[in-house]
Amino acid sequence: MQRISELERSYASKALDGQFKSASSYKLVGRLETAFAQKMNTKYAIAFVNGTATLHIALEAAGVSFGDEVIVPPLTMSSPAIAVLHANAIPVFADVDERTFLITASEIEKQITQRTKAVIVVSLYGLMPDMDSIMALAKKHNIAVIEDDAQCFLGKYKGTLAGGIGDISSFSFQSSKHMTCGEGGMVTTNDEDLALKVRRYSGLGYGAIGLNKGRITKDDIQDPSYERHMVLGWNYRMSDVIGGVALGQLERLDELVGARKHAGALFLDALNDCDWLTPQHTPSECEHAYWAFTAKIDSAKVSWHTFRKKFAEFGGDGIYGAWQLSYLEPMFLGQNFLGREKILQMSGDYRYEQGLCPVAEQLQPNLLQFKTNYWDTDDAQSQADILKKTINWFNQ
Ligand SMILES: Cc1ncc(COP(=O)(O)O)c(C=O)c1O
Repeated sequence: MQRISELERSYASKALDGQFKSASSYKLVGRLETAFAQKMNTKYAIAFVNGTATLHIALEAAGVSFGDEVIVPPLTMSSPAIAVLHANAIPVFADVDERTFLITASEIEKQITQRTKAVIVVSLYGLMPDMDSIMALAKKHNIAVIEDDAQCFLGKYKGTLAGGIGDISSFSFQSSKHMTCGEGGMVTTNDEDLALKVRRYSGLGYGAIGLNKGRITKDDIQDPSYERHMVLGWNYRMSDVIGGVALGQLERLDELVGARKHAGALFLDALNDCDWLTPQHTPSECEHAYWAFTAKIDSAKVSWHTFRKKFAEFGGDGIYGAWQLSYLEPMFLGQNFLGREKILQMSGDYRYEQGLCPVAEQLQPNLLQFKTNYWDTDDAQSQADILKKTINWFNQ
């Protein structure tokens, strides 16, 4: 299987055939949005330039503003925490579960204050958190739930697809994701009011932009008395060429996700009976989308670096470590927030330092992330065999 096929090429080329005339602009993006909403079983889908802008606008649409607190997990690529700062709000970190590596309702609850306005829950590596308990908690405290499903295409929680449970959800089409167009993203929601806000705020606040009319036409703008900007907005719109590539990928999404799930299942199988490598636990109510296959190593038995070296020696692909915890990144430790640190100083005593989330701190250095993007099943099988061989070598 080719990751990028003739289909994506033909859609991108169709977009170029339009010569960027206004009548033909955004047609493929429009098709992509309709098809994405259908695929994810949500009412609305709005395309974006990337999966960080999506989170920023999701927060703005949810009413998060100056000095509000937003709860985020620390064990993830850091866009959720960064987007909170983009929205002039304060990231508050909640610890994760030792077995699933995911944020939980009980850890979120510990961090709720009068200022809490929203929580971003990340479906890490392709696994959705326990959404029932999180939604119930959010309802009780009147806070918005934003799903970050950048790594979770077609993952499920109790039969519902990722992107359809939280108030708003965010997907990324960055090059490492299940479907890609280089850079891109999508917001989904079932709430009409939120959808309209997401559309407007990501489209420069243009008044003419409606739910089914994502872009402004010539008729709108030719009149000199035309007033454009109804509200502050950002320009986070996706272009049609990119939209064409994403549309092709979406039409092949089952195949693309299927390849990753196949690799994930092979790796899981290879870990059978190994008592020092523990895979991310998938609760029975969840379907894992395996953006990556991740396991925790018991470093008292085998160290992370020793394992990685031996795996590579046997022909294994590069294993990734988990991202540094967001609050331990230099940006957070030094509060290098381009002036937004003043918001934190005005609002209270916020510190980003070692010790905030002990479980995440203990997990992070010991996680091994295995690639699952093998488009040829033989390659996935060969990597799983190498994994088994590496385990056996250490067990001798
Ligand atoms: C969990 C998570 N959230 C957000 C993002 C940000 O997406 P993007 O790179 O499209 O901005 C990524 C990946 O890059 C991610 O893995």
